[in-house]
Amino acid sequence: MLESLRSVLRFRPVEGDLVTRRLAGAACVADLRRIARRRLPRGVFDYIDGGAEDERTLAANSDAFARTTFRPRVLRNVAAVNPSSTLLGRPVPIPLVLAPTGFTRIADPDGELAVARAAAEAGVPYTLSTLSTRSIEEVARAGRGPKWFQVYAWRDRGLVKEMLDRAAGAGYEAIVLTVDTAVLGRRERDVRRGFTLPPKAGLDTLVDGALHPRWTWGLLRGEPIRFANVVGREVGDGATAASLADYINAQFDPGLCWDDLDWLRTVWAGPIVLKGIQTVEDARIAADAGVEAVALSNHGGRQLDGAPATLHLVAPVADAVGGRLEIICDGGVRRGGDIVKAVCLGARACMAGRAYLYGLAAGGERGVAKVLSLLDADVRRTMALVGADSIARLDRDLVTVAPSADGR
Ligand code: GLV
Repeated sequence: MLESLRSVLRFRPVEGDLVTRRLAGAACVADLRRIARRRLPRGVFDYIDGGAEDERTLAANSDAFARTTFRPRVLRNVAAVNPSSTLLGRPVPIPLVLAPTGFTRIADPDGELAVARAAAEAGVPYTLSTLSTRSIEEVARAGRGPKWFQVYAWRDRGLVKEMLDRAAGAGYEAIVLTVDTAVLGRRERDVRRGFTLPPKAGLDTLVDGALHPRWTWGLLRGEPIRFANVVGREVGDGATAASLADYINAQFDPGLCWDDLDWLRTVWAGPIVLKGIQTVEDARIAADAGVEAVALSNHGGRQLDGAPATLHLVAPVADAVGGRLEIICDGGVRRGGDIVKAVCLGARACMAGRAYLYGLAAGGERGVAKVLSLLDADVRRTMALVGADSIARLDRDLVTVAPSADGR
């Protein structure tokens, strides 16, 4: 009996490092989200996790991936699967680019530096946000991987030009102009909690902070969270807590229009990605304007509630302008299988934001690295299981899109 007991009882050695142990228990991005939820104060988690109004578009993004299923082909020799591709003319290990996210240091004190290091290690491009909490130059120094810079149109165009000059000087390869934020969407989780950026100490945040002492200690120990690209500038660097809506609505120009692209070309020589395209019509105008790529995006369901799920835009936009620009699909990407589906429908790559923020909150740089390795393994495995040994073999015949209950 002792012998049979011995044969079934095999204890794994106990891992001493806390972060390694925490991450080892996560099998997918949803697990990392659960860990992030435990570790972050509720207001911070909700700012990252939440969407606009009834969060219908947030849900629709994920639902579109769920309703898109595979038509796997077999006996196609997938002994050597190669998921690498190119994006804006540069090789990428898988069709993925990390989305810009503001205030990344609220998830982890290293913030954008941790994300940039993990992305560089994986060779995946990282897009730094205008509203980053580490500067353009600090992030450039953190890792030698490919970097893009996200642009919001400050009312002060001189500031936009200055930032683009800094990004060019620091080696950023492309810019991503966000076009879905004429005004900020109404994120009702933040409204309910009176959430500000940086998070301010009130009675509820103090209680929340006390319940999450490691997060609070990390925040207090580091330098104050600021908009690192505009420290000390007139536009406000976040030293004073404000609601994001007040800040964005005051500082960014809702008058931005297609004609401004001509000006942008005069101040930026590299590729331009328009992020936030949500119709075939606008994708056509973008192609006519000569931009190199569009990111089909509803800002992760954080802007216009009722905007279409981005995955459903991929095929019609690819049919209309796929030969003239590259298409990036952003919103709801949680698995490598999601990336494969978007590529089958005509996307060049996907963008993911929340997925890596959950990893960052769960385990810092190692948490982001874990997300990247999960997505990489998923893409390879999914390609093998659908019978595609290269990105070129991913096509529409490999997927079926089931209509939703309302016929969409
Ligand atoms: C900022 O861009 C946000 O979505 O919170």
